[in-house]
Amino acid sequence: MLCGAPALLRACVAPTAALAAALLATLARCALLEPGDAVTSALSPYFGTKTRYEDVNPRLLSHPESPQRDPELLAGSCTPVQLVALIRHGTRYPTAKQIHKLRRLHELLQDRGPGRADPRGLGDALTDWPLWYADWMDGQLVEKGQQDMRQLALRLASLFPPLFPRQNYSRLRLVTSSKPRCVDSGAAFLQGLWQHYHPGLRPPDIAEMECGPPSVNDKLMRFFDHCEKFLTEVERNATALHHVEVFKTGPEMQSTLNKVAAALQVPVNDFNADLIQVAFFTCSFDLAIRGVKSPWCDVFDTDDAKVLEYLNDLKQYWKRSYGYTINSRSSCALFQDIFQHLDKAVEQKQRSQPVSSPVVLQFGHAETLLPLLSLMGYFKDKEPLTAYNYKKQAHRKFRSGHIVPYASNLIFVLYHCENATTPKEEFQVQMLLNEKVLPLAHSQETVSFYEDLKNHYKDILQSCQTSEECKLPKVNSTYDEL
Ligand SMILES: *[C@@H]1O[C@H](CO)[C@@H](O)[C@H](O)[C@H]1NC(C)=O
Ligand SMILES: *[C@@H]1O[C@H](CO)[C@@H](O)[C@H](O)[C@H]1NC(C)=O
Ligand SMILES: *[C@@H]1O[C@H](CO)[C@@H](O)[C@H](O)[C@H]1NC(C)=O
Ligand SMILES: *[C@@H]1O[C@H](CO)[C@@H](O)[C@H](O)[C@H]1NC(C)=O
Repeated sequence: MLCGAPALLRACVAPTAALAAALLATLARCALLEPGDAVTSALSPYFGTKTRYEDVNPRLLSHPESPQRDPELLAGSCTPVQLVALIRHGTRYPTAKQIHKLRRLHELLQDRGPGRADPRGLGDALTDWPLWYADWMDGQLVEKGQQDMRQLALRLASLFPPLFPRQNYSRLRLVTSSKPRCVDSGAAFLQGLWQHYHPGLRPPDIAEMECGPPSVNDKLMRFFDHCEKFLTEVERNATALHHVEVFKTGPEMQSTLNKVAAALQVPVNDFNADLIQVAFFTCSFDLAIRGVKSPWCDVFDTDDAKVLEYLNDLKQYWKRSYGYTINSRSSCALFQDIFQHLDKAVEQKQRSQPVSSPVVLQFGHAETLLPLLSLMGYFKDKEPLTAYNYKKQAHRKFRSGHIVPYASNLIFVLYHCENATTPKEEFQVQMLLNEKVLPLAHSQETVSFYEDLKNHYKDILQSCQTSEECKLPKVNSTYDEL
């Protein structure tokens, strides 16, 4: 891949004189890159939800637009008839909250008094390293994030040519969260498709495409904002993330704090886990957004990175996954929506009608994907992740960086099989996570008869109603009044 940093810089930083030097430094760095090289860091495997998609799928570094067909994908007498994809937005800017913390950290470094032993150490390199991020960026999709989506579109269209209409997009169905990074991801995906069929031509405005712009549906894509029980018991509950808070002051984190404070020559009492975490993420943002390796990456070694990865995973575990049942149960409506699309396609095929929505694309968040994967039973460790079992969890399944990097995607592929001898065999399903076949949670097989899959999840399909699941337990008001 060619070095894209200069173009990205133009797009995302005001060309002030103060930044000119850094721009030149970046250009110099880029000049050393060979095609196929990517700027990388030994910390990359530990960035959790801030992981670049290509760090999970390294082959994409050299072939970002050509799919690697998983050999487990069905072929031959089974033809894909529908694809329902749940897609996390592409690479994004830090949120305003993260940018504020980063600024505080920067001030802390600037405030270090004179009389330090090593006047030109890492702390000074960091003080001199420009703060690229401004408040307006607040979590928006970056150019690299649009590219993530365009390239994903190109790969999926090459992987499932019968499903992606060549002539027009009237049968594509797009749904998105209201967040601009998700809306923009949907638009970038469509542009990628256009590019696939009309190389070199400028894509039309999304509003002019037959499918129209993605339709916003937060009840579906941000169900966590609409579930009263989740909001009360987890999101707004100061004690729900107990293990996260305990780990922040535990021995593993303390050891990292001590090391970093010493390296930066800052009193350790000025530091805390939140500041350290934002420093760690800054290494990831500089890599993912701008393709540069910043001195923030030199602050940590891989032991520190593993501790910070665990901190991120702990939060995801307790807030979005197995920590509390409501975390995953709040995604039932989305799960059911996916199966309604599949049911409809099955019905239409059975009546020899064309499938009305061969491609359904749903754009959301890591917080959309994790609860759904948990609802389906994926990445569940024998023991919960706690503040006290960091060492024991070294080989855990629940590593958010492997599951939900930027642009992560969970795809249901429905097949119609010609040589079926019974009606049950006629429809089969495979699931792909980040373009690799995900064995079914119940059988560990790479493919399932559609009927068996529905049967396995019949509790969720039949007895999980959002209105019931998300209802708060009734307070006994009669009792209260007495
Ligand atoms: C797009 O395709 C649909 C059927 O799939 C067709 O009815 C419609 O006329 C097409 N529109 C254009 C502009 O080709
Ligand atoms: C907050 O979380 C704790 C720990 O899970 C729980 O015991 C408590 O009932 C929760 N509070 C509310 C208001 O749901
Ligand atoms: C259909 O035939 C293929 C080989 O062409 C075989 O792999 C597959 O298992 C068959 N499917 C069914 C449902 O019998
Ligand atoms: C509510 O309180 C009343 C009065 O104490 C009691 O009789 C009743 O069983 C309570 N109901 C529930 C559901 O706890």
